Amino acid sequence: MRTNTTRNYRQADPRAPGIASAQAGHGLPQGHAAATPAATFQASRAASDVSGPTMHAQGTSGLEAYRVSREPYWRPVADEVALYEAAYAVRMPIMLKGPTGCGKTRFVEYMAWKLGKPLITVACNEDMTASDLVGRFLLDAQGTRWQDGPLALAARLGAICYLDEVVEARQDTTVVIHPLTDARRMLPLEKKGEVVNAHPDFQLVISYNPGYQSLMKDLKQSTKQRFGALDFNYPVHEVETEIVAHESGVTAEVAGKLVHIAERARNLKGHGLDEGISTRMLIHAASLIARGVPALGACRMALVRPITDDPDMRDALDAAVTTYF
Ligand SMILES: Nc1ncnc2c1ncn2[C@@H]1O[C@H](COP(=O)(O)OP(=O)(O)OP(=O)(O)O)[C@@H](O)[C@H]1O
Ligand SMILES: [Mg+2]
Repeated sequence: MRTNTTRNYRQADPRAPGIASAQAGHGLPQGHAAATPAATFQASRAASDVSGPTMHAQGTSGLEAYRVSREPYWRPVADEVALYEAAYAVRMPIMLKGPTGCGKTRFVEYMAWKLGKPLITVACNEDMTASDLVGRFLLDAQGTRWQDGPLALAARLGAICYLDEVVEARQDTTVVIHPLTDARRMLPLEKKGEVVNAHPDFQLVISYNPGYQSLMKDLKQSTKQRFGALDFNYPVHEVETEIVAHESGVTAEVAGKLVHIAERARNLKGHGLDEGISTRMLIHAASLIARGVPALGACRMALVRPITDDPDMRDALDAAVTTYF
C-alpha cells in the first residue's frame, strides 16, 4: 500500500523550482530541470508545521508560490489536453486514474501551466483530517488566528487544487470536497462560521490508482460521481521512448530498449508482479545510463530490484534486460 506521507517538493524532489535551479549544470537530466511544478502543500497533522511558502498570506500574492513558472514537458498521448481544457472551461472536477509513474502529476502540472492557474498539490494520507484540508485555528502570541488549509486557500483565491492519492484519505475526510464539487461550489468552514464561495477559477483535481483499492478503501459513489475521469496508462512504445529519451538524455535507441524491457515486465503483472515497470522507473534507469553507468547495472538497480524480491522473478527480469543490453 502506498501511504504517501507528507511530501514536500522543496525537500525531496529535484524538480522543485529552487532545487532545479540550484542543481542546474550538475548533471540533472534535461527534463528534470525543465519541469517546474508549483510548491506542494504539505498536508500534515500539524498544519502549523507547514513549511510551504507564504501560507499565511491571504491575498492573491499568497498564490504566487504556487504558479508553475516554466512549461513542464508534456508529450501528448491522446486527446487528454483538449479534454482537460474543455472540462476546465465548465469547471468540471477531474479525476486522473492510472498506475503509478505514468504521468498523472506531470499532466496536471502541465495543464496548470497551460491554463495559467496556480496549482496547490496535497499528498493525501490516511492520517489526514478534514481540518488539514479546510483549515484550523492556530494559537500564537496574539491569540487565535485562522489558517486556511490548502482546499480553502485554493477555493478562496482561485487555484487548481490537486489531491494526490485521494483514496488514502478516510471517507469522512473526503466528503468535505462534496459542496465544492457540485453546483454549489462552496466550502463551509464550520469551525470559523464562514462559507467560502469558490473563486471562478477554482477547480478540484484528484488522482488515484485504480489497482490499489480494496473494498475498505475506495471512493464513495457520491464522491466519484462528482468528477469527470481521464484514464492514464503507460504510453505506446514510440511515445514512451520519446519521453524517456527526452527526460534522461539517452538516445532513442537506448530508450527504446528500456521500453521493450518494461513491456515485458508489464506482461507479468498479475503473474508474480504486483505492478509493471513504470515510465518513471525507465527514466531512472535511463538517467543512470546517461551518466555512464553500464546498462545492465542501471537496469538492475532502477528497474528490477525495486519492484520484486522474488528470486525467480528477478531472474526473469534480469534475463529480459540481457536480451536487450
Ligand atoms: N506524457 C508524458 N509527457 C511527459 N512526461 C511524461 C509523460 N508521461 C510520463 N512522463 C514522465 O513520467 C514521470 C512520472 O510521472 P508522474 O510523476 O506524473 O506519475 P504519476 O502518474 O503521478 O505517479 P504516482 O501515481 O506514483 O504519483 C514524469 O516525471 C515524467 O517525466
Ligand atoms: Mg503523482
